[in-house]
Amino acid sequence: MRHLLSIADLSADELVELLDLAESFDEIQHRSIPKVPALRGKTVVMAFFEDSTRTRTSFDLAARRLSADVVNFSVSSSSTKKGESLRDTVETIDAMGVQAIVVRHSSSGAPRQICEWTRASVVNAGDGWHQHPTQALLDCFTIRRRLGGLQGRHIAICGDINHSRVARSDVDAFVKLGARVTLVGPRTLLPDRWDDWGVDVSHDLDEVVSEVDVMYLLRIQQERLGDALFPSIREYRTRWGLTVDRARRLQPEALIMHPGPMNRGVEIDPEVADDGRSVVLDQVAAGVPIRMAVLYRLMGPGQFDDNRATVGDVELAPASGHEPDNKPLAQGVI
Ligand code: NCD
Repeated sequence: MRHLLSIADLSADELVELLDLAESFDEIQHRSIPKVPALRGKTVVMAFFEDSTRTRTSFDLAARRLSADVVNFSVSSSSTKKGESLRDTVETIDAMGVQAIVVRHSSSGAPRQICEWTRASVVNAGDGWHQHPTQALLDCFTIRRRLGGLQGRHIAICGDINHSRVARSDVDAFVKLGARVTLVGPRTLLPDRWDDWGVDVSHDLDEVVSEVDVMYLLRIQQERLGDALFPSIREYRTRWGLTVDRARRLQPEALIMHPGPMNRGVEIDPEVADDGRSVVLDQVAAGVPIRMAVLYRLMGPGQFDDNRATVGDVELAPASGHEPDNKPLAQGVI
C-alpha cells in the first residue's frame, strides 16, 4: 500500500487489518508517555488546502505519537488555485524529501493528482465531495468496538449525502464489512442513481429510526449547498433532524454518530447530541489510533506483519521526550 486515497483502495481484509492495527496503537495512547519510535526520522507534511480542526489535529497527534517529524504547511484556500500552483506547491514539498503528505482539498481528485507529483505517500484527508477514508475507518472502529462488528448491522445515514465525502467513504466501508445501509434524506440531497452503491434509500426518517443499530447524521453543509435544496433549516430539522422525539424511538442500544462539526438544532437536537447513546466523542478519539495505523502502514518498515498480534504484550521503549536514543528500530517494531 503506497497511498490511501479512497476506501475503494482497500479490500475488506485490508480494512480489518487496519482496524486491528489501530486497536494495538490505541493501547499506546494510554501509556504515561504515549509515544513510540516507529516513525522516527520520517517526516509528514500536513497540506490542508481547506480548513479543518479535528482531522488536522488528529493526524498531527498520530504522527507525533509515532515520533515522526510533522510540518504544517498552511495554505489559505483563497490563495490556492488548482493546476500549476498546486503542482508547484507539491513539487516544492517533495523536493524537501518528505515521506508522507496528508492532503485535504476542496477539489475531488486533488490527492490522486498530487500522487503524480511526489515520491511521498499521499493520504487523503478529505477531497471535495469525493472521499474521506480515515473518517470511514474511524467510524468502523467505533462501531466495531461498541457493537462487536458491522456484519448484519443496519446503519442509516441521514442528511446531505450528495455533498458528503463522509457518506461516500462510509457507505463503501460499511457495505464492505457486511452492514446493511439505508440512506435517508430529501430527494434533493440524495444521489439520482444509487443502484450500484449497494444501499437502500428512504425519504422518511420516521420509517427507519426505530429499526436501526446505528443512526449516522451528516452535517448540513451550508458552505457547499449554494442554492437552497430544502425550504428552510426549520423544515429540515422537522423532517430529517434527529429530534428529541425521534431519538426516543431509537432502540436502547442504538448508536448515534456524527462526523462533526455538529450543527446542534439542525441535523441533531442539542439534547440528543449529549444522549448516552451518542458516540460522537468516541469517533473523535478513534481518529488518532486509526491515523497512526494508516501512517504506520504507509511509512513503517516494510509490510506490517502478524507482529501486531503481540504488540500489546511487547515492551516497547517509549521515545524519550527530549533526547532521541539512537538505537536502530527493529523490523516491525511498533
Ligand atoms: C467532515 C469533513 O470535513 O469532511 N468533518 C470531518 O472531517 N470531521 C464532515 C463535515 O465537514 O461535515
